[in-house]
Amino acid sequence: MSKTYNVAIVGATGAVGEAMLSVLAERQFPIGKLHLLASARSAGEKIDYGARKIVVEDLAGFDPAGVDIALFSAGGGISKEYAPKFAAAGAVVIDNSSAFRYDDEVPLVVSEVNPQDLANRPRGIVANPNCSTMQMLVALAPIHRAVGIERINVATYQSVSGAGRSGMEELGRQSAAMLGFQTYEPAKFPVQIAFNLIPHIDEFLDNGYTKEEMKMVWETRKILGDDRIQVNPTAVRVPVFYGHSEAVHLETRQKLSAADARVLLEAAPGVVVVDDRAPGGYPTPVTHAAGTDPVYVGRIREDVSHPRGLDLWIVSDNIRKGAALNAVQLAELVVKERS
Ligand code: A2P
Repeated sequence: MSKTYNVAIVGATGAVGEAMLSVLAERQFPIGKLHLLASARSAGEKIDYGARKIVVEDLAGFDPAGVDIALFSAGGGISKEYAPKFAAAGAVVIDNSSAFRYDDEVPLVVSEVNPQDLANRPRGIVANPNCSTMQMLVALAPIHRAVGIERINVATYQSVSGAGRSGMEELGRQSAAMLGFQTYEPAKFPVQIAFNLIPHIDEFLDNGYTKEEMKMVWETRKILGDDRIQVNPTAVRVPVFYGHSEAVHLETRQKLSAADARVLLEAAPGVVVVDDRAPGGYPTPVTHAAGTDPVYVGRIREDVSHPRGLDLWIVSDNIRKGAALNAVQLAELVVKERS
């Protein structure tokens, strides 16, 4: 019989946890024992995994001994408290929160970009990047390797699922209420999200950027292993359920034509180019990304305002490639190491 791995999902009842479970099943991950962990509120609920019915367990009372791989997506506070305990008990922790991303002893890995970094994990923890950084770098890493990227200007259009299940509920309920001429007070988001845009994700920092924006600066440099890259993001929450989009403006070190960029992107692992310069000939969250794996790139063109400028439109499912899929791909790299 082929080797199996005991897997725990921490935050299994959340938007990302649920997707982790689907992706593990779709990719036929060699699971032995499967532990679904959440808060005491969800303990006792049953979740289907193929033919199995798995009872959700309370993380607080769970003994991690015997877990080989733990996928965490229950927020930074939970990761800070429990990930080291799981690692000490012998599990490889793949953490979707930002708790350890900037720790020098924790690799930050996009499976298509820097899989080699996964092996060096003295704390037993591997960090899964932020969703916006993830999809951007799947597309930009091949360009950076070919001609060098000097500067990235990026505006994101981020779906509400990035804020978890309660974010989706707020958009749904608020939209329905407003269409019925009712009011629905914002709770999850700082202001109304239905039929609106919010240029504010995560907390404000002293430099005027938000933490979500600075994650893209810090994580890009760490993943590409190049501190010279300048990144200037504006992160915006939009009333879309699944799929983040990004308008990316690059300044490369050497000139790269749009035609050569297209050739590089068409050969890039994890990327699908959708760029027909006709109505509908570009990716959108609804028509392409939601529920699928690739990072889609369209609107590839040379920047009329800069001699080494290139513009791209990058769209991907933030819950899948931006979180659950990459986490499972990292778990697959762990399996590969051990086989
Ligand atoms: P629960 O459903 O029991 O609250 P989302 O990002 O979609 O909001 O999901 C967050 C995930 O993190 C859920 O699975 C949630 O479980 C879990 N979670 C939140 N707080 C805790 C906690 N204190 N202990 C364990 N899991 C938690």
